[in-house]
Amino acid sequence: MVKVVLHKNGEVHEGEVKDNSNLVVRAGIRQFPYPNLSFRCGMGKCATCACRVLDGQEHLPAPNWKEKKQLGAERIEEGYRLVCQLWVTHDIEITQDIDPINP
Ligand code: FES
Repeated sequence: MVKVVLHKNGEVHEGEVKDNSNLVVRAGIRQFPYPNLSFRCGMGKCATCACRVLDGQEHLPAPNWKEKKQLGAERIEEGYRLVCQLWVTHDIEITQDIDPINP
């Protein structure tokens, strides 16, 4: 199991998910991190799911072209990722601390 910590609106939400889980897919079927993770398209097109990775970034693949397009170099440099584009295989701590980039 993979431990996930989500910071959102000053609260901390913790849960465990199966190895190789997509957090937006899970939230879409109303499992943790539902209802605390904001998302919309699930396809890397809206950036609503953007989160800054606080811990565990070393286990993530490099940002894909959708993340680069939606987030831009500056946000990527700051540690932001599109959670819908990530399948987590190691413990991760993230914060959804910004308004949707493209609301
Ligand atoms: S949910 Fe739209 S980019 Fe992730």
